[in-house]
Amino acid sequence: MAQTLTAEGALGPAAAPASAAAPPSAPVAEAAASAPSPSPAPAPAAAPAAAIAPSPAAAPVPAKGAPAPAPASPVGSGGSSRLGLLRAVTRGTPTNYDMLVLRTLNRDQALPNANGDHLAAALRDELMPLRSWWLKHWPGSKANMRRTLENPFWGVPGAINFIDARTKWFDEAVTQALDGGIKQVVVVAAGYDTRAYRLGRPGVRFFEVDLPIASETKQRLVDKLGFVKDQAARPTYVGADLARVPLAQALAGTGFDPAAPTLWTVEGLVYYLPGDAPHALYAAISALSAPGSRVWFDFMSEEALAGRGSFPGFKTTAKSVANKDEPFVWGLPPCREGVAGFLAGSGLELGDFLTPKDMVGRMLPHLPWSDRRPPIASFYLYATARKP
Ligand SMILES: C[S@@+](CC[C@H](N)C(=O)[O-])C[C@H]1O[C@@H](n2cnc3c(N)ncnc32)[C@H](O)[C@@H]1O
Repeated sequence: MAQTLTAEGALGPAAAPASAAAPPSAPVAEAAASAPSPSPAPAPAAAPAAAIAPSPAAAPVPAKGAPAPAPASPVGSGGSSRLGLLRAVTRGTPTNYDMLVLRTLNRDQALPNANGDHLAAALRDELMPLRSWWLKHWPGSKANMRRTLENPFWGVPGAINFIDARTKWFDEAVTQALDGGIKQVVVVAAGYDTRAYRLGRPGVRFFEVDLPIASETKQRLVDKLGFVKDQAARPTYVGADLARVPLAQALAGTGFDPAAPTLWTVEGLVYYLPGDAPHALYAAISALSAPGSRVWFDFMSEEALAGRGSFPGFKTTAKSVANKDEPFVWGLPPCREGVAGFLAGSGLELGDFLTPKDMVGRMLPHLPWSDRRPPIASFYLYATARKP
């Protein structure tokens, strides 16, 4: 039984029938663990229950898990499955849950690759008590998950290291920006990002933008875990569906200051945005950026999306995220010129451009590169931009 926890998404089977129902309940999210779960299952502590009120300026949006408007041709949405039940079960787990789990794995095992997110495990334990219990107490669970997930035939080679490298790199974005005097950080698609709580400094304001339900769940957990010691340092949570609500509208009335140089981090988002939404997002970021503002983001190779070239683990990942109604739909050319052209259309200047191999050399230099079995997922790229 091929069951995978993908680099940018699901813990679940590689393919499944489109007819499976989407179970919205918390136990379903919990049941998405990649291996046998202990029984009986304790009730999860914090599960998305209902849509919350969006930010004052944001238009109402459906709750996460509600049927999303189908993109023109979602990648990986096809395929049949021998695992229909499992697919149905794993559909309910949003990708940001899985990012959180992946972020804890190398740290839990004290591996040298591990990222610096010392708060991720506490969030994971609170959000997914069953999965956490299994990981912590079931003999061999971590090794089993790693083997299954990174299986070179049906898994995603480099899935865990990818999250470590990416987490380290975005940490560097925040540290460098704050060292450089930037005092405003907008974390776009924050998910369970903990940079505001780990890397914040006095006088620096963080805004965390995400879907309303994700934003609400995050706030609840952060409060429960007491991550914010000083209320002046509390991030501003902005609930908005950026596929429908313009960023400027989402940030209006939140205290965001467009006259102040800003660091924007856009981690793990753009490949999910349909239609014109990626262009609209970058145009808005540019319009809201004072000179000297910075943008750090990851994106997907359009070659992988188009099915050209060799990208180990891509199909598994694409099918897995499509399984939870978060299909990959958007990419950029995997070259400096292509990304620079895209950014220039919004008035932004490309800074760094990193291939997966560059990222390994920069963040995990002890890992040798292999095209056949890449040490991090091979279909994501990374770039920085500046507002001149
Ligand atoms: C793969 S997760 C990445 C989360 C986090 N940045 C990380 O790396 O762990 C994708 C995030 O994008 C958010 N997201 C997806 N579509 C969105 C949209 N249309 N508007 C706002 N947020 C969105 C999801 O709720 C989720 O938190």
